[in-house]
Amino acid sequence: MAKKPLKVAKTPADAEAQPQYKVEYREIQPYGSLKSLPIALEDNARAQSVAILNQVLADTMTLRDMYKKHHWQMSGATFYQLHLLLDTHYEAQAELVDMIAERIMALGGISIAMAPDVAEMTRIPRPPKGREDVPTQIARLLEAHEIILRQAHEGAEQADESGDDGTNDLLVSNIIRTGEPQVWFLAEHLAATELLRGDK
Ligand SMILES: [Fe+2]
Repeated sequence: MAKKPLKVAKTPADAEAQPQYKVEYREIQPYGSLKSLPIALEDNARAQSVAILNQVLADTMTLRDMYKKHHWQMSGATFYQLHLLLDTHYEAQAELVDMIAERIMALGGISIAMAPDVAEMTRIPRPPKGREDVPTQIARLLEAHEIILRQAHEGAEQADESGDDGTNDLLVSNIIRTGEPQVWFLAEHLAATELLRGDK
């Protein structure tokens, strides 16, 4: 006997259980605007910090992704060590990205989020899609770190002057204090020391 096809009852379009997914997309706060929040900071101070932090965010997202690129594309005798090290640094940078973005929102601004916006804003030179050797990979990461550290120092000073202690603290305690030791760990790989001393 042929099986009867199952009958699926259609949820009426106006039923409460029917998800209303066909919505008109609507923006509720334009990028670049600042909403008011009772956090005892002047509008000018908040606007300045949002601009600084969005630049640091674009560069930190780029550095984060560059860590993953080099983690995947690693090569050579120190493959395993560097493969793991770069992923550890990636995790720390990913945490920073979230902290920076949420600080921007807490200030009443809007954090950038999507790759095309990051690409448009970042000051870190774009690496090729292809694979590069280890010294190039490390040199690129060091260059990216220094761009961020320079901006973080400048931004921390500006935030200090405007009275935005929270942003100053984020830039110093998180961005700078995470970036500096990562630079140290990377830079040591470019010292031309031998793995073994050759017997003469
Ligand atoms: Fe991995």
